[in-house]
Amino acid sequence: MSDAPTPPPGPSTSGWTPEQVGDQSGRTALVTGATSGLGLEVSAVLADAGARVLMTARSRAKGEAAVAEVRRRVPSARVELEMLDLASLASVTELAQRLPEGLGASGLDLLVNNAGVMAVPHARTEDGFELQLGTNFLGHFALTGRLLGPLLASEAAGRRPRVVALSSMAHRFGRITPQDLMREKRYEAWSAYGQSKLADLMFALELDRRTDRAGRELVSVAAHPGISATNLFTGGPLGRLPGPVRGALGRVGEALMQSAEMGAWPVLRAATAPDVVGGEYYGPAGAGERSGPPVRVGTSARAQDTDMARWLWQEAVRLTGVDYADLEPTPA
Ligand SMILES: NC(=O)c1ccc[n+]([C@@H]2O[C@H](COP(=O)([O-])OP(=O)(O)OC[C@H]3O[C@@H](n4cnc5c(N)ncnc54)[C@H](OP(=O)(O)O)[C@@H]3O)[C@@H](O)[C@H]2O)c1
Repeated sequence: MSDAPTPPPGPSTSGWTPEQVGDQSGRTALVTGATSGLGLEVSAVLADAGARVLMTARSRAKGEAAVAEVRRRVPSARVELEMLDLASLASVTELAQRLPEGLGASGLDLLVNNAGVMAVPHARTEDGFELQLGTNFLGHFALTGRLLGPLLASEAAGRRPRVVALSSMAHRFGRITPQDLMREKRYEAWSAYGQSKLADLMFALELDRRTDRAGRELVSVAAHPGISATNLFTGGPLGRLPGPVRGALGRVGEALMQSAEMGAWPVLRAATAPDVVGGEYYGPAGAGERSGPPVRVGTSARAQDTDMARWLWQEAVRLTGVDYADLEPTPA
C-alpha cells in the first residue's frame, strides 16, 4: 500500500510543558525501562506530580540507582522498583502475577510501555522471538494483556486508565513482514527496529479500537520523542563504532538531538493531559518532528492498515499466549 502520511491531525495546543501535568496524587503508574533516558524522566515528572510510580528494571543495581535518582530530584517521591525483563515472557507473567496484590482495589491507572532496544545485532529473546520485535512489541503486548485486570480495576473505581505506547519516527520506514516476522531469512538491524516501532504504534491503535468496541473507558495512545539524547544511541548503534568515529558522530548527534528531559514531554502529555483521546499520537512540534514541545502528530498510512493490525494482534496472541479475553464485547 502507499505510505503517504495520514492527513495532519486536528489542531492541538503547542507550547505544552510538564508544568501542565495536573495533580497525579492517588494515581498509580508503571513505567517500563525506567533506568535511564525517557523512562527515568517520565518517572521523575509523574512522581513530582504526586503519582505512585512503579519503575521497572532488568538489573537490580541499575534499578536501585534510578529510584535513588528520582528520590534525589523529588524527595517526596513515592517510587518503587519492580524487576522486569521484556525479553522473557516468564518475567512478564511473574510481574503481572505479583503486582495486583500491591496495587489494591483501585488497580493501575497508567501503563507507560517505554522500554526498548534499537538497531541491535541479530539476537533472540528467551522465547525465540527476534530481539527488537520481542522486547519492544511482543513483551509489551503480553504485559498490557496480563495487566488488563488492574487497568480495568482502575476503570471500575471511576477513573480513566491509560496505556501509552512508545513509537518512533522509524515507524515510517517500518514494514510488518508476515512472511518473515522474526526476520530469519534476512536480518537488517534498522529495518527490524522500524518493524518493531510500527508494531508498537499499530498495537496502540488496535487496542484503542478494541477497547471502544468493548465499551471500555481505557484509553490507548502513542507518543514518540523525536530524536533525544539517551543511551539508546550511545549504548546501541553508536556504542558499537570504533572510538574516534563514535566520538565525532556523538558530538554531531548531540548538537542535533534534544535532551532526554524534553523527549519525555510527548509521553507525559499523552499520559496525563485531560483532553487526550484514545488513538491519538503525540510527538515534537519542530521541523521533521525531531524536537520541540509535544503536539498531536500524524502516522504513516501503513500504521492505519486495520487488516494488518488485526493480523498482527492475532499473531501476537498466538506467540505470547495472552488473549485479552476481558476485551471481548459483552453479548447484548
Ligand atoms: N531516544 C530517542 O531518540 C528515541 C526515538 C524514538 C523512540 N524512542 C523510544 O523510546 C523508548 C525509550 O528509549 P530511550 O531513548 O529512553 O533509551 P534508553 O535510555 O536506552 O532506555 C531504554 C530502557 O529500556 C530498557 N530495556 C531494554 N531492554 C529491555 C528488556 N529486555 N526488558 C526490560 N527493559 C529493557 C533499558 O534497560 P537497561 O538499563 O537494563 O538497558 C532502559 O531502561 C524506546 O522504546 C525507544 O524505542 C527513543
